[in-house]
Amino acid sequence: MLTSAELMRAGPVMAVLTLEAAADAVPVARALLAGGIRALEVTLRTPEALRAIEALSGVDGALAGAGTVLCVDDAARAAAAGARFLVSPGFRPALADAARRLALPWLPGVATASEIMAAREAGFDDLKFFPAETSGGAAAVAAFAGPFPMARFCPTGGITQANAPRYLALANVACVGGSWLAPRDLVARRDWAEIEARARAAAALARG
Ligand code: 3PG
Repeated sequence: MLTSAELMRAGPVMAVLTLEAAADAVPVARALLAGGIRALEVTLRTPEALRAIEALSGVDGALAGAGTVLCVDDAARAAAAGARFLVSPGFRPALADAARRLALPWLPGVATASEIMAAREAGFDDLKFFPAETSGGAAAVAAFAGPFPMARFCPTGGITQANAPRYLALANVACVGGSWLAPRDLVARRDWAEIEARARAAAALARG
């Protein structure tokens, strides 16, 4: 079974994908993989998301999981579709139990010390910091290192190629997540070359 530590170490950037058409999933994944990005979070925000996850579970080298997992049913449906991991914007104890039952790594979202404490109490130290840019940015993540030396973060929300280095330089950041590699407009235009170029630039980002 994949661990959350392995997931966060799969590369400096996790691609966040919101796909309107499941048929786009494989070409997007191939472009991202060609650029060196393996961790693919498909948000459960579109009717085709689960079919996209199903399609990606057959792509060699890809680590495809589900994002925007809001409830236990979302987690179960994502697991049934072949998701290798789960990501949520927030923390819920019921989701912690569900992830354990499903034997899938789960990155709960946190933005405050109390949320980190709640996640920790449930046994989760690998966390999504969300929404990163509006929750204090890299300075907030750096400040969490004091009371929470055991926590590792994947900041997501407002991250770009330009501001990612500020986060990746921190010892408590394992990777960042973002939609900038394959945003909806590039996917709609089927601009696989630009997605591959963005992935290549992202994969070259150094971690501290
Ligand atoms: C997420 O679900 O993690 C965010 O929507 C990704 O944020 P971004 O679109 O600002 O990269």
